[in-house]
Amino acid sequence: MRMVIKDAVREAGNDPIFAVAQRASQAIAEYGADNVVDSTLGALFDDEGNLICFDEVYTVLKNLPDAQIAGYAGIPGIPAFRTQVQEACFRDHRPDAFIEAVATPGGTGAIRNAVANYTNYGDKILLPDWHWAPYQTIAAENRRGFAFFELYDENGDFNMQSYKSVFSELLDKQGRILSILNTPAHNPTGYSISIPEWKELIDFYTTTAKADPEKRIIILVDIAYIDFAGEGSRDFMELLAGMPENVLVLYAFSASKGYTMYGLRNGAILCAAPNQETADEFAASCTFSNRGTWSNGTRCAMETLAKINEDTDSLERFLAEQAKYRVLLQKRADAFLGEAERVGLNLCSYRDGFFISIPCDDPKAAAAMLEDQNIFIVALKKGLRFAPCAVAEADCLKVPALIKKAVDAVNK
Ligand SMILES: Cc1ncc(COP(=O)(O)O)c(C=O)c1O
Repeated sequence: MRMVIKDAVREAGNDPIFAVAQRASQAIAEYGADNVVDSTLGALFDDEGNLICFDEVYTVLKNLPDAQIAGYAGIPGIPAFRTQVQEACFRDHRPDAFIEAVATPGGTGAIRNAVANYTNYGDKILLPDWHWAPYQTIAAENRRGFAFFELYDENGDFNMQSYKSVFSELLDKQGRILSILNTPAHNPTGYSISIPEWKELIDFYTTTAKADPEKRIIILVDIAYIDFAGEGSRDFMELLAGMPENVLVLYAFSASKGYTMYGLRNGAILCAAPNQETADEFAASCTFSNRGTWSNGTRCAMETLAKINEDTDSLERFLAEQAKYRVLLQKRADAFLGEAERVGLNLCSYRDGFFISIPCDDPKAAAAMLEDQNIFIVALKKGLRFAPCAVAEADCLKVPALIKKAVDAVNK
């Protein structure tokens, strides 16, 4: 006998990434950390396998008065957070647009609010074929679907042709479109849309929007990993403004990775709107959504982010810490990429970030072969996801040859 409604019948509901991470933890307990490579979770770990937690973040947080930890944050977030998260999002690249921010529990909340307020029931959200799987969960949970474009062209660059074609088809059918672009430092591939690619996209949005002002084009840039991307990672933000009034740019900001606040559930949805009316409408709809879902966000996390960004000395210490770990991550990724090239392991184009993807015909079988050697890696639909964010440099050097062996064994 089924008690849940038909639409809510789900498979176990357990995230497959957490399942493999659990097996990795068991292997570490059994064989010792030195004998296991755990490349599963999307969080930054030190070389000894400890979760990195930024000192500045936790010093500020632990010095908050109790009332700033215990109190409600207000439905759209505390005012200081709503201002400072704009700094955290744009830094020196604030677009010339009407900007509003509404607090959400992590980037996930921002994505949820974009889906709920900018698409109709049954609409399809535009995603790349390589993507973070929970986008599909959020779409399904909200009774929406999804359509895919191919992320890469034959040169490993952004596949404009595929993007424009699926985009136009959806827009014609639905009269509106929500396109989620996770850049820079895309999960799972590490791809970052380049400035020339952004310029071409902006031309496309502008032409398409002008052709029919009744259509609605919403671009959600998911910047969950932006603070771990290299120099110039925010340069595109200024370009994404000044388009026709039927184009709206949104940002999903997450404090999970950039502030090491994963479990504190802190983030925001921001708009860079073409006019005040659209920005006000955005704030009203997203605030209403907050009230109707999780109500408030986490007060102490908002206070901490606001205090760090308000105080020049605190911000300097925080940015120095972020930079130190960005370098650690880049060194690990460079080690993996260099060794992959040496052994001839084929990768998706990687530019920045926590993850590197390896195309593979049978990812599950390849991951199982690696698991037998105590190498835990995530099997996606189209390949394997390696996580230099979680693996010491020495292991980043060791694994490409073993991954190649597994991939060669399963490829047709
Ligand atoms: C691509 C992408 N977007 C958004 C998020 C949102 O994370 P959170 O809700 O923890 O801020 C994640 C987290 O893993 C992610 O990988």
